Amino acid sequence: MFGKKKPIPQIDKEQLELIENAQKRIKQKKLLYVHFVLFLIGALFLILANTVLGIGEDFKIFEINWFVFAILLWLFFFFYHAFNVFISHKFMGKAWEKQQLEKLVAKQQARIEKLKAGFVKEETLIAQSEVYNESTTKIENLKPNAKKSKLTIIVAAAENDAIGKGNKLIWHLSDDLKRFKSLTNGHHIIMGRKTFESFPKPLPNRTHVVISRQDNYKVPDGVILVHSLKDAIDAAKTDLQPFIIGGGEIYKQAMNLADKIEITRVHENFDADAYFPKIDTSIWKETSNVFHKKDENHDYEFSFLTYERK
Ligand SMILES: NC(=O)c1ccc[n+]([C@@H]2O[C@H](COP(=O)([O-])OP(=O)(O)OC[C@H]3O[C@@H](n4cnc5c(N)ncnc54)[C@H](OP(=O)(O)O)[C@@H]3O)[C@@H](O)[C@H]2O)c1
Repeated sequence: MFGKKKPIPQIDKEQLELIENAQKRIKQKKLLYVHFVLFLIGALFLILANTVLGIGEDFKIFEINWFVFAILLWLFFFFYHAFNVFISHKFMGKAWEKQQLEKLVAKQQARIEKLKAGFVKEETLIAQSEVYNESTTKIENLKPNAKKSKLTIIVAAAENDAIGKGNKLIWHLSDDLKRFKSLTNGHHIIMGRKTFESFPKPLPNRTHVVISRQDNYKVPDGVILVHSLKDAIDAAKTDLQPFIIGGGEIYKQAMNLADKIEITRVHENFDADAYFPKIDTSIWKETSNVFHKKDENHDYEFSFLTYERK
């Protein structure tokens, strides 16, 4: 009632049948052995009965004592018995062999079916993964060099996501500018036409890629003009870390394509006309956060945050 019942080992029907057959066979051989012993004793007894006790002394067939025929007859029965045990296996017989063979064949067929089903499943999985790879490749093709390069957004945004007003930055934070310079140094910087116009002149040691819908927009030598964000990313495909540097319109379009966001979060709210899009934390995870206090060079507290696509 309280203790667990010991599990009784389960023997299937076939195993039971095999055990029963083996037991029968042992019994059969034992009987043959007993028969043999009885035959020896019996033969000796017949010989003694005739020669010592003189039973049927006068009864002879072709001048041969009767016990010889009696022993030969018994020997014949003994051989017949032995023949049944070792040659014809009477109780097993052909039918039994056939039945065992059929069982074996059925078992093998079941195994083959199982293997076939396994192969079909495997093939389906391979086919599905090929389709998946193909579709992934198609998506990746829309994002040139995406596998190798890390498209990074770099921005400074207020608590209310404000980034600029009147085509100007709202604050001056020297450590933020230093960080921008060191991170983007030697890389492609992709920007909207308005952001480009907010610079007094192109920044040194960076390849500027400017996006505009205007066909006749004039840019200085060395600055690349493109007419879509996709073309801008294409123009930067040799770069392992091209940067999207703004402004509001371009950030909005780049959010779905970027792999990383380097954001300086200024811990204030500001009135603005350009904003950074909300960062969806179900897509982006924060991987670094460094706080910077207010001081003589910085009018506001801010934090350098890094987000990476989950
Ligand atoms: N805080 C920061 O980190 C930061 C960084 C950068 C900029 N900002 C600020 O952001 C503000 C500028 O941002 P914004 O949104 O006004 O302008 P923007 O994004 O810099 O540039 C917008 C312009 O880019 C072109 N453009 C946009 N999408 C395009 C597309 N799909 N195909 C072709 N051309 C496209 C258009 O140029 P055309 O009109 O010539 O066709 C459009 O007028 C400024 O206040 C700036 O100071 C702040």
